[in-house]
Amino acid sequence: MKLHPLQPFGAQVSDIDLSLPPTPEQARAVERAMDEHGFLVFRGQTLDQHQQIAFAKSLGPLDVGLRKIRSGPHRFAYNELADISNVKADGAIAERAHAKIVGNVANQLWHSDSSFQNPRAKYSMLYSVVIPSQGGETEFADLRMAYDALPEALKARIQGLKAVHYALHSRFMLGDTGYTEAQQKAIEPAIWPLVQTDPRTGRKILFVGIHACEIIGMTLAEGRMLIMDLLEHATQRPFVHVHRWQVGDLVMWDNTATVHRGRWYDFSERRELRRATTEEVVPA
Ligand code: OGA
Ligand code: MN
Repeated sequence: MKLHPLQPFGAQVSDIDLSLPPTPEQARAVERAMDEHGFLVFRGQTLDQHQQIAFAKSLGPLDVGLRKIRSGPHRFAYNELADISNVKADGAIAERAHAKIVGNVANQLWHSDSSFQNPRAKYSMLYSVVIPSQGGETEFADLRMAYDALPEALKARIQGLKAVHYALHSRFMLGDTGYTEAQQKAIEPAIWPLVQTDPRTGRKILFVGIHACEIIGMTLAEGRMLIMDLLEHATQRPFVHVHRWQVGDLVMWDNTATVHRGRWYDFSERRELRRATTEEVVPA
């Protein structure tokens, strides 16, 4: 496996075939590369659902994310594969009012996958099957670079603060409010410190994203304003890498150290990706 650094962070990886189950040594090498680079791009991969799941499982226990709230019909053989597409379970493109479309729009807000639950997501592995003729890029921002670049006074102001992350906050923002009481309570909000230290690298991380909706001990208004300010800081262009998809790309990112968002594409064109995600395992 060879690493070719990307700007301003991330790396492209060559000389590895992800369809073969990785050896423990390869899995550790992928983890070390993730520690250093935050996200990795593997091009030209041919992966079926089973192979994608096998690769993901070699890196940790799998997460199912929002399918805890709204299961419904699914195109894939595994509940643990998220259908990141604008296509319905029957294979047809979703109509504008369909839940798949609001899900696509929600993915266009800067976020860390499953930060609204505990355990949260560690690695997301997104594999592209069909891409639209234009748009639909995915952007990544490095929350370690973001922390390091904070003014000292702001570092001091946020030290020790904790944010509440709620699964439906971003959906409510987009006017997607048709959830039952039981659905609204299916995933209890998770609480995460704004400033974290990565147990593997020792680097400090500014852990923000669209799922954060409240700062403990602050009014809603002041807390949300602080979260928005920090997210705006973290996602300035110098901290962002734009990934332009090719069919057969597998892009893997560390949700504890980065945020990401999809970009606009024409929802009347197909865009089909599949995502497997591991849960964070905190060292004892
Ligand atoms: C995801 C996600 C963005 C995109 O799969 O978690 O946010 O560009 N995707 O599809
Ligand atoms: Mn995501």
